[in-house]
Amino acid sequence: MPAFRKTAETFSSGARTLPQRYLISPDIFAKEQGRIFSTQWLCVGRQSQLGKPGDFFLQNVAGESLIILRDQEGQVRGFYNVCRHRGTRICKERSGQLRETLQCPYHAWTYGLDGKLLGAPHMESVKGFDKAQHSLRPVNLALWEGFIFVNLAESPAPMEIVFAPLKGKFTHCKSMSMHETPPTKGGVSLEVRSNVVHAGRRPTLRRLTENRETAPYAWVNPDQDHKATLSEIGVLKHCLSTA
Ligand code: FES
Repeated sequence: MPAFRKTAETFSSGARTLPQRYLISPDIFAKEQGRIFSTQWLCVGRQSQLGKPGDFFLQNVAGESLIILRDQEGQVRGFYNVCRHRGTRICKERSGQLRETLQCPYHAWTYGLDGKLLGAPHMESVKGFDKAQHSLRPVNLALWEGFIFVNLAESPAPMEIVFAPLKGKFTHCKSMSMHETPPTKGGVSLEVRSNVVHAGRRPTLRRLTENRETAPYAWVNPDQDHKATLSEIGVLKHCLSTA
């Protein structure tokens, strides 16, 4: 079970910052994707982003596109954004409002917001086809202090156990809102006042500004649409503090 420690408690005499290769190496980035981002509980957004039934947003985690939505009953759910027919990306809009269903643009398979397959044109005549066996694949999802977390592992340790040491410490964040800076010429940036954001995205992170007063840790990844998220910051922070 991970231990959460204050950063200052982890300092030791003679400690140095990470060698450069940890910030630019594609191999190390791949290992992080496999060992951290694919196995840990990661924060992907705020519950307040899903104010009404049908609200949704997409999030990329370790190369997977996920759709996070609020269903008709008000439950927050997460699914792999992949059609169960032939694997087409179902939703391409980054966020928005769904009616009562999700429909694949390829052959119009239609899913409820609970992930169940409702309609599959021309499949009714296929012997043995069972719609119940073709629901959208759910992703492990947990809600915590106003945040939405996901975990891509098959059988992750329960979020409430993993985060038990932090119980109550972030309750004030329930009223917090996330602020995303506008897309820049090179891509998308996320401004966060944290001392570990430099570990958020690679291999092509570059610093937006040298002004530590106004935007001390804003970064941009110009070659992809994958935003840095609190999860990446949080997990890296956790790993750095427990290394
Ligand atoms: S790939 Fe989605 S309906 Fe065919």
